Amino acid sequence: LLESMRTKLHQLIPDVEIQAKAELAYEVNRLKRELNAIILGHNYMEPALYCSVPDNTGDSLQLARISAESTADIIVFCGVKFMAETAKILNPNRMVLLPNLEAGCSLADGITADDVRTLKERFPGAPVVSYVNTNAETKAVSDYCCTSGNAAAVLRFLHKKGHQHVIFVPDEFLARNTAQEAGYAFVEGWVPGSEKTLRADTPTVIGWGVHCEVHELFEPEHVDAVKQQFPEAITIAHPECKPEVIAKVDISGSTKKMVDVVRASSARQFMLFTECSMGDNLAAENPDKEMIRMCSHQCPHMALITLEDTLEALRKLQHQIEVPEPILQEARVPIDNMLAIS
Ligand code: 13P
Ligand code: SF4
Repeated sequence: LLESMRTKLHQLIPDVEIQAKAELAYEVNRLKRELNAIILGHNYMEPALYCSVPDNTGDSLQLARISAESTADIIVFCGVKFMAETAKILNPNRMVLLPNLEAGCSLADGITADDVRTLKERFPGAPVVSYVNTNAETKAVSDYCCTSGNAAAVLRFLHKKGHQHVIFVPDEFLARNTAQEAGYAFVEGWVPGSEKTLRADTPTVIGWGVHCEVHELFEPEHVDAVKQQFPEAITIAHPECKPEVIAKVDISGSTKKMVDVVRASSARQFMLFTECSMGDNLAAENPDKEMIRMCSHQCPHMALITLEDTLEALRKLQHQIEVPEPILQEARVPIDNMLAIS
């Protein structure tokens, strides 16, 4: 384990730290086997954790799918709370652990189930698509979930079914970045009390005005500046970024798409407009390629998940995720609907 971590991390982390992390990772892996646990690691995990203990790494959609197929007794989710909740909803009879219960998400905190009920009353008949970055109560009053990896597929499905109006919450930028490619002409940002009425003949997505606290920090001028300084670099942005940023980059997509693009491309240099650890992990996996990244933009929630806390979670079986009935049953419906589409 130490040698494999050294090979991947020696360019990023001093050897003394790699040794300390490898000791923790060794113990995590030993306990994991003893307890018949599986560890799922989101692409934003810090590099020492990312490359040592997860059985699977991936974006929200990949990890949700893998959790649905797991036969392990315990699922340890190295990611944020909405991801662990999704795994629990898909595995009500398995123990799901989140190493730090404080690991939240500004998008999930930006909408409540009552907000969705208000939207449903205001726009009767419009199906509700909730980004998977929501809490279980919000999912429970939704019709479909989506992730950044399948948002366009879910919207396209609803457009084909003839839905002129779709409520898509909570990420306004993801809605704006996805709606048009799925056949929806407009995105109306909507807040309670708004008097706007929708035109019956115009396919419209009704959005909600919250943003990811990390991705909203990227500006179109940043893309210009990077392109000027590194003209050879392929620019890739997450669709939680502003539409003005997405318009300027070469490629936009989920964190899985970023992994796939960097692996498959013959280019040598990439600039990632996303959480900084993602760049570290891609650099570790692709030593022949250079990742340019803006490390002032780090997700404070993802950063709470450490090897130390993962070990404690396994030792004490602590921070179990519980989703009460009937929320669990109700929240499963939009997740299953999403998995059936994509
Ligand atoms: P992905 O599903 O693309 O991994 O995104 C999750 C997320 O929280 C991005 O900020
Ligand atoms: Fe939430 Fe943004 Fe962090 Fe992703 S990066 S978990 S969307 S706050």
